[in-house]
Amino acid sequence: MPVLRSVRERFGAERSLEGVRVGACLHITAETATLMRALAAGGAEVALSAANPFSTQDDVAAALVGDGVVVRGVHGEGRSEYEAHLAALVAWGPQLALDDGADLVGGLHRAGVGDGLLGATEETTTGLVRLRAMERDGTLRCPVVAVNEAITERAFNDRYGTGQSALDGILRATHVLLAGRTVVVLGYGWTGRGIALRARGAGASVVVCEVDPFRALEARMEGFGVMPALDAAERGDVFVTVTGAPKVLTRQHFERMKDGALLANAGHFDVEIDLEALVELATGGVRDVRPLVQQHVLADGRRLNLLAGGRVVNLAAAEGHPPEVMDMSFALQALTVERLVREPRVLEPGVHAVPPETDREVARLKLASLGVEIDALTPEQQDYLHSWAP
Ligand code: ADE
Repeated sequence: MPVLRSVRERFGAERSLEGVRVGACLHITAETATLMRALAAGGAEVALSAANPFSTQDDVAAALVGDGVVVRGVHGEGRSEYEAHLAALVAWGPQLALDDGADLVGGLHRAGVGDGLLGATEETTTGLVRLRAMERDGTLRCPVVAVNEAITERAFNDRYGTGQSALDGILRATHVLLAGRTVVVLGYGWTGRGIALRARGAGASVVVCEVDPFRALEARMEGFGVMPALDAAERGDVFVTVTGAPKVLTRQHFERMKDGALLANAGHFDVEIDLEALVELATGGVRDVRPLVQQHVLADGRRLNLLAGGRVVNLAAAEGHPPEVMDMSFALQALTVERLVREPRVLEPGVHAVPPETDREVARLKLASLGVEIDALTPEQQDYLHSWAP
C-alpha cells in the first residue's frame, strides 16, 4: 500500500495526531491494520472494533494488539458480542470515528456524545444512506466526510475491489466454474458494475436486475441481459445481491430458481436475501455442504445454496478488497483524519465530500507508485479550455 505508506512516513515525521483518540469500526483486515499503524505513527491513540461479525482476520487482530492497538473483534462472533465490542468502543470515548456502515457514529450519537466529536469518516454507501437520514432528521451532530464518494474510492474500490473479491468469495466457497453459467447481478451501482464485468470476463452470461432506468440502460448497452428479478430467478445459476436494499431475493424468487442455484450477497448488511423465507421454504432440511455453503432443500427436492449465511461474501468468504485498492481509500481516510484534527470545528455538522484536490493527490500518488506517467496540458491548451472566446 505505497500511497498509505507515504502518508504514514509523513505522519511519523510530523506527529500531528499526537494524543488524539481515534475509534474505528472497520473490517479487521490486513489493510485496516496498515491504516491503524499509519494513524498510530502520527501519534494517535487507536482503538478498533469489527464492522462485521464474519470479516475479522484473527491473526491480524492479534498482531495489532501486539502493536498496542485496542482491538475488539473475533471471526464468527455472535450478534451480542459484536454489539458489546461496539459499546466498549463508544465507552472508550473516541474524538474521531472511522466508520464502515455507520454503526459507530450511530452508537456515539445514541450515547449522547455525537456533538463532542471532531468528526467522522464513512467507508460505505450503506453507511452514507444512514448518515444522510440522520442529517435529514437533524440528529447528526458532527461533520462526516463521505470517503466512499471520492473518485479514488468509489470507482476503484467498489468496481474493481468488490468486483473481483465478490467473485473470489464465491469461488473460494464453492469451487464452481463460472464459464457457461448465468450470473444474475441484482443492483448495478459501482459494485454491481464491477461484479458484472468480472463475471463476464470469467465466461459467464450476465443478467442485471435494476430499479434505476439509467443504470438499467447502461447495463443493456454494456451488453448484459436486463430483466426483472422474477424472470432472472428462473435463468440464473449464481445470484449476487448488491443493492443495499432489504428483501431483494424473496420466497417468490426462490420458488422459481433452478436446482443447485448459488445465492450470495455482496451488500454491506445481510438483509438482501430473505433468509427467514429461505429457511421456511426448506422443508427438506438445511445442511452444511461445504464450510461456507448451506444447502436448503425445497419440498420438491431442489437445492438452493446460500453462501456465507447471506453476509457480505467478499469479506466473509474471501479477504475483502485487495490492498491495491484499499491503499487509496485508506490514504483518503488518513488524510481526512489529519484534516479534521488540524482544522477542528471548521466543517459544520453534516455529510461532506472529500476535497477534490485530496482525491486528485491520491490518484497522482497511486499513478506514481505504479510507475505510470501522464501528460500535462500545455499553457495554450489551458488558456483555450478556460476561455469562452472562439
Ligand atoms: N472493505 C472491503 N474490503 C476491505 C478490506 N480488505 N479491508 C477493510 N475494509 C474492507
